[in-house]
Amino acid sequence: MKALILSGGKGSRLYPLTYTNAKQLIPVANKPVLFRVIEAIHDAGIDDIGIIIGNDENGRRVQEAVGQGERWRVNITYLPQDAPLGLAHCVLIAREFLGDDRFVMFLGDNVIEGGISNLIRGFEGSDYHCQIVLTPVEEPQHYGVAELNEDGSIKGLVEKPREPRSNLALVGIYMFDDHIHEAVRQIKPSWRGELEITDAIQWLVDQRLRVHPYIHRGWWIDTGKPIDMLAANSKVLEELKPQVHGFVDKDSKVDERVTVEAGAQIINSVVRGPTIIGENTRIINSYVGPFTSIYHDCHVESAEIEHSLVLEHCAIVDVHTRITDSLLGRHVELRQSDFKPRALKLTLGDNSRLGLL
Ligand code: TTP
Repeated sequence: MKALILSGGKGSRLYPLTYTNAKQLIPVANKPVLFRVIEAIHDAGIDDIGIIIGNDENGRRVQEAVGQGERWRVNITYLPQDAPLGLAHCVLIAREFLGDDRFVMFLGDNVIEGGISNLIRGFEGSDYHCQIVLTPVEEPQHYGVAELNEDGSIKGLVEKPREPRSNLALVGIYMFDDHIHEAVRQIKPSWRGELEITDAIQWLVDQRLRVHPYIHRGWWIDTGKPIDMLAANSKVLEELKPQVHGFVDKDSKVDERVTVEAGAQIINSVVRGPTIIGENTRIINSYVGPFTSIYHDCHVESAEIEHSLVLEHCAIVDVHTRITDSLLGRHVELRQSDFKPRALKLTLGDNSRLGLL
């Protein structure tokens, strides 16, 4: 089997972070989502991986971060997409790479509980032409939705239906054999101008090909929006096996659900897990609360932060209001300013959001 990871797209719901970085490279629990996807695929025994990237700076950033895949002992082929023309368009442009092999397609911004090895093995040894993964969600209108017949087979699939016929959303993992190539050639772009994978799968269903719905019962998060990033971060932190490689001084209180990476220092601070403090990050006279990931080379001093995601090289110093539910990009500085006038002084990128007291 081969794997196709989708790591293009605009990531517009995560502006401004995605102006200067691919959303798949944003870390949850201090590891980029895309790296987690590659690990899951490798664990399932697949080493031949195609990655769809945008034909832009973010695409180049993905290439730079992942390289040829040596780190995971996999072989990566990059497949540039000129514009985000839809998930089925990704299959269309990957035709040569995929050949006639069975393959798993994985959205590079999705995080799922547990591995996918059993799922993939099940499909590999089956006579299914396609396997989709479904999970119950609260607001199905925001997802691709499947309606099932009484015998559990698929009746129909609709992308973001206004009036959903079920609460079963399509999780971003799909398995196909070579029939999908005909399907993506047969369908037409939707009202939003994209070749929808739901339409291609519906085409398979209409041809009476075997499309098997697998119901996933664990958690699954599509990290499209900041709130989803925080949710994914919390879930992964809860699963993390805590390790302390950095330095914790005797005046600090760090509970057993905290991971402290190499070179990190915690001085006179309280850190409550599940939380991760990245390499060479310094936490001084501060409080770091649960569900927080602070990436490498940050400086947090005389500040309080919880349920947040902080990327590398940030400084949060002398901030007297507790920070919560926040997502900080790279090299962000939050500091008390002693210069007059006493006022908020902001340098925010386009589409930044600030929740004031
Ligand atoms: P989406 O989250 O649906 O799209 P997006 O990344 O453009 O985000 P936004 O709506 O915020 O602008 O994409 C799901 C995944 O598939 C994501 O990893 C990006 C990838 N993708 C492609 O690689 N090519 C595409 O044409 C599309 C639509 C998505």
